[in-house]
Amino acid sequence: MTRKKLIIGLVLVVCHCVVELEAQLQVGFYRSSCSLAEFIVKQEVRNGFIRDNGVAAGLVRMHFHDCFVRGCDASVLIDTTPSNTAEKDSPANNPSLRGFEVIDNAKARIEALCQGVVSCADILAFAARDSFEITGGLGYDVPAGRRDGRISLATEASSNLPPPTFDVNQLTKTFSNKGLTQEEMVTLSGKNHRLYTQNCSANLGYKNL
Ligand code: HEM
Repeated sequence: MTRKKLIIGLVLVVCHCVVELEAQLQVGFYRSSCSLAEFIVKQEVRNGFIRDNGVAAGLVRMHFHDCFVRGCDASVLIDTTPSNTAEKDSPANNPSLRGFEVIDNAKARIEALCQGVVSCADILAFAARDSFEITGGLGYDVPAGRRDGRISLATEASSNLPPPTFDVNQLTKTFSNKGLTQEEMVTLSGKNHRLYTQNCSANLGYKNL
């Protein structure tokens, strides 16, 4: 297996294996109910990338941060209310997570076309794939059919997402809690963080996959 294929495989593992409902997901889930959904997401990722190419990295990380807390259920997108501090506002996500406007724009266009059909969780999963692709990675099919969650707690983001102070044993444990091996953890985090660093250095990043 080539290194690129391994990375894509592992992104898929993070994106799709941390939820028990995975077996029910299907590639082409919206083919008849909202056939333009994936196309619209791709367009909005491209628009966001043109405005600020950093959003691609932001969306990959957003998907990771969503999936590690209650599965890939878009709970990371829920806003804080007077009675609840949401995942979005945990120190793991605020202020560093970015790309929310890309998801909002895609969701608004999709809702205008097919109301109440496409979940935000799937939009985020598609957007992460498209972000990976637009930065030079290979494309891959995203099984869809996720349901959006309604619970979003900042405390759960803090307890499920690894802080940068963790040592290798703590990181390994965090990932094994989600069914991921140490090798998968190293491959995923090493590769994604290298892309991030490259982006910081004069727009040369993302192509060196
Ligand atoms: C191994 C545990 C991990 C730790 C401790 C960690 C921590 C961090 C931190 C501290 C940042 C910088 C955030 C900032 O801008 O202030 C970051 C960025 C990033 N991380 Fe991770 N991360 C981990 C794993 C992962 C994984 C598994 C992925 C992808 C699947 C990922 C994708 C990214 C990306 C794409 C960025 C750049 C985001 C941007 O530029 O907006 N990380 N990470």
